Amino acid sequence: MLDWSETIEESPSELILTPPPVKEISDTTGLGKIARGAARVRVDDKAMINCRADVNQLLPLKYRWAWEKYLSGCSNHWMPTEISMQADIALWKSTDGLTADERRAIKRNLGFFAASESLVANNIVLAIYRHLTNPECRQYLLRQAFEEAVHTHTFQYIVESLSLDEGELFNMYREVPSITEKAAWAIQYTQHLSDPTFVTGTAAADRAFLRDLIAFYVVFEGMWFYTGFAQILSLGRRNKMTGIAEQYQYILRDESIHLNFGIDVINQIRIENPHLWSDAFQQEVRSMLRSAAELEAAYGRDTMPNGFLGLSAGLCEQYMHFIANRRCSQLGLEPVFPPSGNPFSWMSEAMDLKKEKNFFETRVIEYQSGGSLAWD
Ligand SMILES: [Fe+2]
Ligand SMILES: [Fe+2]
Repeated sequence: MLDWSETIEESPSELILTPPPVKEISDTTGLGKIARGAARVRVDDKAMINCRADVNQLLPLKYRWAWEKYLSGCSNHWMPTEISMQADIALWKSTDGLTADERRAIKRNLGFFAASESLVANNIVLAIYRHLTNPECRQYLLRQAFEEAVHTHTFQYIVESLSLDEGELFNMYREVPSITEKAAWAIQYTQHLSDPTFVTGTAAADRAFLRDLIAFYVVFEGMWFYTGFAQILSLGRRNKMTGIAEQYQYILRDESIHLNFGIDVINQIRIENPHLWSDAFQQEVRSMLRSAAELEAAYGRDTMPNGFLGLSAGLCEQYMHFIANRRCSQLGLEPVFPPSGNPFSWMSEAMDLKKEKNFFETRVIEYQSGGSLAWD
């Protein structure tokens, strides 16, 4: 056990620093000077961005949809280590169980997700959280940040289980051009938001914040992840890499809430700040979604040059067009591609966990409930 008295005695006196003066104006972070005796927060004082009301007061709730998503996230709790990897390990080690095309797609898929989960988490914690000035939304962001940690844990667990080359997998976002292009596209939107001097409050800055929300929630989590899910779930449907496929079902369940939270946040900011959603900005957002779909098509050609198990780069491109148009409609935008059917209609089945009869039976541990905690 650490002996604090000893630590203090040994501390050189110059390390005892005087804290800087506390900021006089209560800012949007929630860490400004405490406004002693100030009027209590009324629900109408709350706002998504640039809010001057105390962001440390969860109640009264204004955005019940954000609170509901926090509760849904909590009730979906899972850990990757609950899922057996035995069948995947046997298949991965076998010499004839997977084709070279399947192995290439699996590895690139894992490589894309391994880094992307971290990029998404960093964006939440270092860019979005500070500028989203509503406590119920922040409550959800804290839950989402933990879920992204669970997702990153999933890729650590897969690498360890299959004895994959961890350096190869975790460096793909820097070494495989079709993955690098996507990561670089998204990072351009988060870089200046994470700058400590960036503040919202002008139309230009508020639009920069909206662009970041769109890049990460709508494109990264709402478009690119879906091709990745389709690849692995397609294998799972054919009884290949079933452990990873099951983990991806859990991730997909989480991600569909992340996506819907992001869409709700963007639309609520639009409602509260209609001047930001100009015609020019709407066209810009549509072109963001179009270029993101093109990057995804290039990734599809790179990961599936020959296609496998009913998947092909062409079908993935069509799927991305379908998804991009769907995201446009969720944001009240005109579609960016000609109407196309969903080539992976089975995905909606795979997303409905209630229909997966044996899904929960595969879980190997049960969570300790609050009532069963032992304190002695
Ligand atoms: Fe995630
Ligand atoms: Fe996510």
